[in-house]
Amino acid sequence: MNGRNAHDDWWRHAVVYQIYPRSFADANGDGVGDIAGIRAKLPHLAALGVDAIWISPWYPSPMADAGYDVSDYRDIEPVFGTLAEADALIAEAHAEGIKVIIDIVPNHTSDQHALFQAALAAAPGSPERELYVFREGRGSAGELPPNDWQSSFGGPAWTRVPDGQWYLHLFAPGQPDVDWRHPEVRAEFEQTLRFWFDRGIDGFRIDVAHGLEKNWELPDVGGLPFPLPEDAAHDHPHWDQPAVHEIFREWRTVADEYSPPRVFCGEIWVGRPHRLAAYLRPDELHTAFNFDFLMAPWLPAELRRVIDATIASHAAVGAPPTWVLGNHDVCRPASRYARDQHGLGPRARNLRHFQARPADPELGARRVRAAALLMLALPGGAYVYQGEEFGLPEVEDIPAEALQDPTWVQSGGTDKGRDGCRVPLPWTSAGETYGFSPDGSAAPWLPQPADWASFAADAQDGVHGSTLELYRTALKLRRELDELGDGDLEWLDGPEQVLAFARPADADGVRFQCWTNLGSEPVALPAGEVLLASGPLTEDGALPSDTTVWLRR
Ligand code: GLC
Repeated sequence: MNGRNAHDDWWRHAVVYQIYPRSFADANGDGVGDIAGIRAKLPHLAALGVDAIWISPWYPSPMADAGYDVSDYRDIEPVFGTLAEADALIAEAHAEGIKVIIDIVPNHTSDQHALFQAALAAAPGSPERELYVFREGRGSAGELPPNDWQSSFGGPAWTRVPDGQWYLHLFAPGQPDVDWRHPEVRAEFEQTLRFWFDRGIDGFRIDVAHGLEKNWELPDVGGLPFPLPEDAAHDHPHWDQPAVHEIFREWRTVADEYSPPRVFCGEIWVGRPHRLAAYLRPDELHTAFNFDFLMAPWLPAELRRVIDATIASHAAVGAPPTWVLGNHDVCRPASRYARDQHGLGPRARNLRHFQARPADPELGARRVRAAALLMLALPGGAYVYQGEEFGLPEVEDIPAEALQDPTWVQSGGTDKGRDGCRVPLPWTSAGETYGFSPDGSAAPWLPQPADWASFAADAQDGVHGSTLELYRTALKLRRELDELGDGDLEWLDGPEQVLAFARPADADGVRFQCWTNLGSEPVALPAGEVLLASGPLTEDGALPSDTTVWLRR
């Protein structure tokens, strides 16, 4: 294990691997991934060289939103396993030198959560209903939703209950929002934090961290865009409300009581660098996902702008930047980059934003490898979504009847949603489910494509030039070279279509450099030792288009 990781500030430069448990590995043969599957794959994660894993929700859930609808925050969903297995996984990961981060979903519970069931059973105006957001409707008989808020998955953010009141859900109807002003809500979640901290987890990823507080007058959104313009003087009624920061200050004091201190990573979609950085002040969250980087098109000026803005905004609050290319909510980057990158919308991230453009899978594959090396050379931490180490593309042709994402139904069948990045992983090139489940098991919960054998782990293991070996070598170098951890970046002069930067010099004055060619012609490289390249260099040692190289000179 890297000496750096022994320190309390491991999170400042960690590579965190996201496990989406339903789709990672199925040990018990029911077609859904499980904790036993994760435990069996710990050697894969150790050999990959990640510092930590983040596990998407594994709590009991009716699965209205694939586990982001939690009915009990202090137990394990039986489909995934048991608390004893979770404890064993935490211990085994730690024995491999891998930290464990789990997901907490504080904006909403499941509609099957005991507190929501109690609220439903109680009368309008009862104390039980105050934990959630119940209101009378508009219209002469209250037949219209209380305001115009829309669910992120489509349709109104309100559902009516039989006694006539409406409840708020910014996501699926099975995900009622809680009222964070209520002391009991705050106490509940604090107890959940402690429950898992006491079991030894190293931190939480916080779901929809920018959504917890609302403007409690519940005004209409009207035509207000989100993200708001950089200099907007007003706030959005239900995203990024200033009161949310107080909640995270309280959480930070809880995390800091532990030794070593536990850490938080916020899922914060605010689209304004200074508003994101506000969550990362020293008494709030430790890190946040950098969705601006994830959404940046594969164009040199755009990438450089996002990198600079990220570093500047994070430095202003003393937080480490982070970098991310994909997760369980967005189109796989290999498929995103397979399209023409010009003129995409500023927030393009889901399949629906790219689907109309013709795809060149070979181009996407080249670019995503170059993007991975670029990301892993930047200062700060990085997030790798399961399957990126295999170069997996988005599955774009899942038949309508197999789709599970609530987006599909709530959009009235117009948006296929996020299932294409959630297809169960291929571990072996042979076998009925590419080794996701044991042969003879139930069918995987989402169908796998017929042509995935070449992406399987065993097809890439030990194969020089494979994406898996590229990731392994890159992560090994990140651990070996101190200059790849904290510290600054200095842009190097070069042609416009090239992103080239150096990292701080080591003790001998040798500098690490990262060069990415986003143009169409090869570019000459400076003299130096080539440590790693995302693809072959030209015969005379130049850097071909859509290729990244790591050098020392
Ligand atoms: C976050 C999760 C996403 C989920 C939503 C509602 O954005 O990443 O998967 O649907 O929150 O919990």
